[in-house]
Amino acid sequence: MYPPVFRTRITELLGIRHPILGGGLMWLSDARYVAAIVRAGGMAFLTPRSFPAPGAFERELELCRELAGGLPFGVNLNISRVEGHNQRLHEWLDLSLRAGVRHFETVGRAPDDLIRRIHAAGGIAIHKCPLLRHALNAERAGADAITIVGPEAGGHPGNAVLGCMMVAPLAARQLSVPLVIGGGIGTGDSILAALAAGAEGVVLGSRLLSAEEIWAHPAYKARIVAAGQDSTVVAFAGTHPMGTWRVLENETSREVLRREAAGARNYEDFADLIGGTRSRDHVYRDGDVERGMASCGPAVAFARAVEPVEAIIDTLMGEAVAAQRRLDRLRLPGCVDA
Ligand SMILES: Cc1cc2nc3c(=O)[nH]c(=O)nc-3n(C[C@H](O)[C@H](O)[C@H](O)COP(=O)(O)O)c2cc1C
Repeated sequence: MYPPVFRTRITELLGIRHPILGGGLMWLSDARYVAAIVRAGGMAFLTPRSFPAPGAFERELELCRELAGGLPFGVNLNISRVEGHNQRLHEWLDLSLRAGVRHFETVGRAPDDLIRRIHAAGGIAIHKCPLLRHALNAERAGADAITIVGPEAGGHPGNAVLGCMMVAPLAARQLSVPLVIGGGIGTGDSILAALAAGAEGVVLGSRLLSAEEIWAHPAYKARIVAAGQDSTVVAFAGTHPMGTWRVLENETSREVLRREAAGARNYEDFADLIGGTRSRDHVYRDGDVERGMASCGPAVAFARAVEPVEAIIDTLMGEAVAAQRRLDRLRLPGCVDA
């Protein structure tokens, strides 16, 4: 287990060893994965939407509590843009609070109510969004920290157009609360760069998809390990009503892009390709990697083997330290601070 190297407002706020967050992963961030990250020194978030069966999310909270061995873990509360998909948000918050969870990754428009309720229970809300404008609104709503994800992020990076290295110094100069940056971060060198640019933590998704603790089929993991920087595509970009979605390139995403190019705009036009549990059942459970939209970003290019989460985080921290040493060596001998 890598010893602590960096102390930032994020490590202090969350009480974690390393400034590394595992962002919520639909269908994939279960108790085993989340607990592995917190035990390796980071923070991670269960995704309640991945447990639709009655009682399933409560059981996952309980299991995570056991596996995390007393360490705090988090829950992702994602405010959907789809009407009618948010009825259970407050129920998930209640269940999480009752289970002792106090760390929340909120996502989506107008998180004010959630943040207020999290604070009333003594919890911490880290709000994740793609645009600085939304970040400033969330800060005004009381968010304790802000995560901004760039367009490289797997999943739904919204309409982000500025990459992490542009957003980090920009946002750090305007926000008062600590900043976490994500999207395209897959090495310790990038973590060091993010910290240098003003972030106080990073959020990862794609780099962790090859983790042993991810429950998905070995054929899916093999596809992740084989993926390179060109293995993902972006569907529904710009003003498309479905909302930007970065996924693995496969038969399904190519067909989505074909229909999009032909002018398809509505959910019904894509339902047979993107519907609810398709990626869970085909891609993750059965390992049929062509049959579903599988969220993924280009940082997957750094996931070169199936390994335990702890080994991945140790590698990242080792790389960050090596990058720091490289920078130290670049300094001119005898140079003094101005
Ligand atoms: C498989 C997968 C599923 C994701 N599902 C969610 C989700 O349910 N909620 C969420 O807030 N973010 C989700 N994300 C985004 C991640 O939490 C994180 O912000 C993002 O992966 C960081 O960028 P990176 O992929 O370049 O590391 C998902 C990402 C991936 C790769």
